[in-house]
Amino acid sequence: MGINLGEVFPNLECDTTVGHIKLHDYWGDGWGILFSHPADFTPVCTTELGTVASLIPEFTKRNVKCIALSCDPVESHNNWIKDIQAYSNIKSFGYPIISDPNRDYAIKLGMLDPAEKDKAGLPLTARAVFIVGPDKKLKLSLLYPATTGRNFNEVLRVIDSLQLTAYKKVATPADWKSGGDCMVLPTVSKEDAAKLFPKHVVKDVPSGKEYIRITPQP
Ligand code: BEZ
Repeated sequence: MGINLGEVFPNLECDTTVGHIKLHDYWGDGWGILFSHPADFTPVCTTELGTVASLIPEFTKRNVKCIALSCDPVESHNNWIKDIQAYSNIKSFGYPIISDPNRDYAIKLGMLDPAEKDKAGLPLTARAVFIVGPDKKLKLSLLYPATTGRNFNEVLRVIDSLQLTAYKKVATPADWKSGGDCMVLPTVSKEDAAKLFPKHVVKDVPSGKEYIRITPQP
């Protein structure tokens, strides 16, 4: 199982470190992110969840509510949060962690990593990232193995791109950062491009095709 881009993200009913929640209610009218990790009290996960906690003001600025998930029980999550805060030198921990002891959500969302098992031999969750728009549809997903920690500045960067391209007829090129030049969408006609992006330039290429149209960020 799993979830494809454009599908409505399942409205999980789950136990978390802030009580029982329905995911769509938690996310509210804004953007949402759910990210999973393999296990509590593990080193890379500790760095990742601490990094997200320290970046909460950046997520809030972008109207994104974060939630984490792993197979461990809520009590374990709550005890581990104290370690994360100590390790990352942070006082607050501004997002909940979901408990998924039976792997129900991990199976539903295709997040299990068969290479990583707990002491009982059950598979752990991989490092998944799901970003959901205000319409609750999946806009982006990433899947990393347990041995590779994620770059959450990259996650903020893709949120900037998703939020820009949701409303403007542009796409963002490789290594784009907010404020950088964008590409006019291939579906925009020459006439509309002239009206919508009066400062755009067309890159001259050997094929003679006018498909690389570069505009300042609208
Ligand atoms: C970690 O978070 O350090 C980790 C967790 C599971 C497997 C490998 C690394």
